[in-house]
Amino acid sequence: MEIISTIQQFCVRRTELSNLGKTLGFVPTMGALHEGHLELMRRAKQENDLLVVSIFVNPIQFNNQEDLKKYPRTLETDMEMLESVNCDLLFFPSVEEMYPEAINDNYDFGKLANVMEGAARPGHFNGVAIVVRKLFEIIEPQKAYFGEKDYQQLAIIQKLVKMIPLSVEIIPCQIVRENDGLAMSSRNMRLSENERFAAPFIFQTLQKAVKLNAVLSPEELKNWVLTKFSTQPEFKIDYVEIAEDQQLQAVTHWNDANGVLIFIAVFLGNVRLIDNMRIF
Ligand code: PAJ
Repeated sequence: MEIISTIQQFCVRRTELSNLGKTLGFVPTMGALHEGHLELMRRAKQENDLLVVSIFVNPIQFNNQEDLKKYPRTLETDMEMLESVNCDLLFFPSVEEMYPEAINDNYDFGKLANVMEGAARPGHFNGVAIVVRKLFEIIEPQKAYFGEKDYQQLAIIQKLVKMIPLSVEIIPCQIVRENDGLAMSSRNMRLSENERFAAPFIFQTLQKAVKLNAVLSPEELKNWVLTKFSTQPEFKIDYVEIAEDQQLQAVTHWNDANGVLIFIAVFLGNVRLIDNMRIF
């Protein structure tokens, strides 16, 4: 695996690879890698000549400085995991390399950015869009892989590449879960033993909820989930939404949309976890 940490070096390498006609599959990450990331990478490796991964904890997408400070950094094990999926190129820039000066771009993603994560974390998606655009411009991949775990982020990126426009193809990848159903996340390693034991309640509740659409309205279903969580004092709900799969706007009737998902953000101790599941 080749490790490149400057933009200039990457661009030189990119030109060489283009001249050889190589296609690049790209997986952007913030490190603290787990099996969820590795699934994206295996797929990217399979569908392209070369796998490129970036590890960059992007400060401008954190609206909470404490969260940024506590974000796990596990470079040594990350490297081993990258080797295990035969990663070809790791782009690992410093903050100074990515942001030699402040970037004031302001993207307007419309109502897509005003709900759920966009509402709960002001500026978050603008920070994500800035870094992903910059990474796409440096790496120039044919395909880039994003997890449905961060469903709204995936929708934002799909909109970004249409808005700019960029020629990269965005490939959505399904959520990878632990055996007990907990969606894999770099944040899971911050859970205490008791919290980790309690965490699968999120998946279990979503799984029951998606089966109730025949008997409950969206509003009733949302309330059903809130009631379930109210019996579990270790959880503090940030939001529960039942929304269509395009603009992620809340639905009031099941026939308002062709595709609907349930989304949840919840604090377990001081760790904020998100998850989602398709209803239809
Ligand atoms: P990060 O949280 O490291 O996630 C990198 C990619 O892995 C994202 O596309 C995310 O959706 C995917 N992913 C994480 N957990 C997953 C799981 N359990 N199943 C499937 N995919 C999963 O998302 C980011 O980093 C950043 O916002 C980034 C896009 C790199 C921009 O900074």
